[in-house]
Amino acid sequence: MATKGKLLILPGDGIGTEVMREVRRVIDWYAKKRGVEFALEDGLAGGASIDAHGVPLTDATMALAQEADAVLLGAVGGPKWDSLPFAVKPERGLLRLRKELGLFANLRPAMCFDALVDASTLKPEIVRGLDILIVRELTGGVYFGTPRGIETLPDGSRRGVNTQVYTTEEIRRVARVAFDIAAKRGRKVTSSEKANVMESGILWREEVTWVHDHEFKDIELSHMYADNCAMQLVRNPKQFDVIVTDNLFGDILSDAAAMLTGSLGMLPSASLGAADAKGKRKAMYEPVHGSAPDIAGKDMANPIATLLSFSMALRYSFDLGTEADLLDKAVENVLAGGLRTGDIMQPGMAKVSTSVMGESIVRALDKLA
Ligand code: NAI
Ligand code: MG
Repeated sequence: MATKGKLLILPGDGIGTEVMREVRRVIDWYAKKRGVEFALEDGLAGGASIDAHGVPLTDATMALAQEADAVLLGAVGGPKWDSLPFAVKPERGLLRLRKELGLFANLRPAMCFDALVDASTLKPEIVRGLDILIVRELTGGVYFGTPRGIETLPDGSRRGVNTQVYTTEEIRRVARVAFDIAAKRGRKVTSSEKANVMESGILWREEVTWVHDHEFKDIELSHMYADNCAMQLVRNPKQFDVIVTDNLFGDILSDAAAMLTGSLGMLPSASLGAADAKGKRKAMYEPVHGSAPDIAGKDMANPIATLLSFSMALRYSFDLGTEADLLDKAVENVLAGGLRTGDIMQPGMAKVSTSVMGESIVRALDKLA
């Protein structure tokens, strides 16, 4: 049978290996029950790779990532490797992947499952049915601009400097990602900056508008100052579909949006790179959480963040939107049935392990298909 493409799985460390077992279960289900198969590769990343090969990511694994249509990563790091020098720490494996795959667009969805509406700090009617996505520029802006540094002035006082820099091409390519994604969702993009006080914001607004007018006229585009956007996110988040913004504002807005919907164990993410001639983008999918050493090896971790990351891979790398919808729905149904891992436990619900949560989601898929 023809496969849908190449998927590289890097479980990493700690709960990364546990949650990835549940993804494998779901991948097996798609192959058996839906005839949706991937050419699967496995690799080591982070501490696991340090233990086996002395480096957090080998050239061979990097080559597999370059060939893959998508990389699915668990999490890296843990106390065992904390005392290593920064240059050889587990996190360097992740940084290498992001850098060499050229992943400049970070996608962070904020979805609210009906069953978890009460877990939000906001009123149920504000978050019920929420499904928005923040596209954050990841490799430019004030975190990388020069000049930067701390300097001592002639009078002896000190000055810290960081510079917000964006080029036309850096803005256009992330705008294209946002419009591409919006075309597969609610067809609405809100671009956010501070064009009222920053020249880089003026250019941002002009270039996003340019991409819209020349390439994505049928997608709705609006502009919103970032401070207002922060307000609107907590006042009426359902007005948004896709928000595209720079590295700094995106860092803040995506964390705020994530918390509209609750626990770290529920949050997926994707990072995308440039499109090739066929429109295919390099891509890496991973949960927002880390390796959670405090609960690692105890079959307690919530696998949903990683399962939803796989669902994003289905949607955005393999063009399997219907299959992604199935998985999202199966997660919704299991939560509605009252099953909870410890991190999302609520009164009156049934507390289950990582593996029982995974098995239950597969059974829910069975019922839907
Ligand atoms: P963390 O996200 O691993 O854990 C924070 C807290 O959330 C812990 O109490 C943990 O038990 C809980 N938690 C996280 N994911 C969960 C899940 N799926 N289900 C249930 N509970 C969950 O962040 P922390 O503790 O700051 O870092 C631990 C290690 O992970 C460090 O070595 C850090 O460098 C690494 N890390 C790796 C990341 C990655 O690979 N992308 C991201 C963040 C941290
Ligand atoms: Mg942040």
